[in-house]
Amino acid sequence: MQKKEELPKEMSDKKVTKIGVLTSGGDSPGMNAAVRAVVRTGNYHGLEVYGIMRGYSGMIEDDIFQMDSRSVANIIQRGGTILKTARSKDFFEPEGRAKAYENLKKRGINGLVIIGGDGSFRGAQKFSNEFDIPCIGLPGTIDKDIAGSDFTIGFDTAVNTAVEAIDKIRDTADAHDRLFIVEVMGRDAGYIALHSGIATGAENILIPETKTDIEELISSLTEKEKRKKLVNLIVVAEGDEYGGANEVAEIIKKRLPNADTRVCILGHIQRGGSPTCLDRLIASRMGYHAVECLLNGRFNVMVGILNNKMNYIPLDNAIKAKQKISEDWLKIVKILAS
Ligand code: F6P
Repeated sequence: MQKKEELPKEMSDKKVTKIGVLTSGGDSPGMNAAVRAVVRTGNYHGLEVYGIMRGYSGMIEDDIFQMDSRSVANIIQRGGTILKTARSKDFFEPEGRAKAYENLKKRGINGLVIIGGDGSFRGAQKFSNEFDIPCIGLPGTIDKDIAGSDFTIGFDTAVNTAVEAIDKIRDTADAHDRLFIVEVMGRDAGYIALHSGIATGAENILIPETKTDIEELISSLTEKEKRKKLVNLIVVAEGDEYGGANEVAEIIKKRLPNADTRVCILGHIQRGGSPTCLDRLIASRMGYHAVECLLNGRFNVMVGILNNKMNYIPLDNAIKAKQKISEDWLKIVKILAS
């Protein structure tokens, strides 16, 4: 191995022997598959692996237990997370992080794998800067709003859940000639709306990343009414600048009182359920590579997959950069929904 002074910033020759794994932030289908991969890869290499309950909260409250290959049997197909999850406010205080460090130190845990979104990575980055514990982030969020990876664990399952539901809504919308406004998850990100909207042939897709032109929406609906196109599906991300489906419906009902308008909010069903094959595969691959990173001294990175290759982004960059919606998709939406 290279000498320390020759190593790039995220590389180290420090030896990791005991690792902790936790899931943090909103759960996402496939987190269990990632935990399983971390535990089994760690055990394969002779590392002690510890599960930390409820994200950073369990680290502070000392809710930590040793795991082995058997303890992750029969979980690859399960949604949610056996380690539970939380958004810990205390971890954002220096006292909380100091407590968490003491609990790791007394067990000799000297490496961490954090499965979560950008908020969880922010915590990891602070922690690894303050204490000598390398952290590896795995993108676990249904929102797919993390740059540096073509996939986030859980997005594929969530978007397929949304597609299945929207297809059903279209059946009833069609039977009644109705206008449906369907709200999908995405407080700051429109990927679920964009992908599920395109896949279900939605007439309009409203997302936080683009400016929503209500006048254009109303005139396109009026024009469709004129040519007797009475079935319309609008997919809106909960974080659109106009608000969610209820707020958009209010406006439409006022402007187009003749339209038979209904609202459906899909909500948290998008977060649950058995992960798709894709989510199980990427979770397994990322979990395996997280441990490889810790063993090879590639520290404080997020493990992503870009163009089918592993991509390691320093946690600092993973936090700053947001996944952008490609212009190509936006064009496709416009042309195909006419
Ligand atoms: O997991 C991400 C996300 O689904 C966002 O899109 C959503 O706004 C948020 O979680 C809601 O999370 P919770 O209900 O757990 O606060």
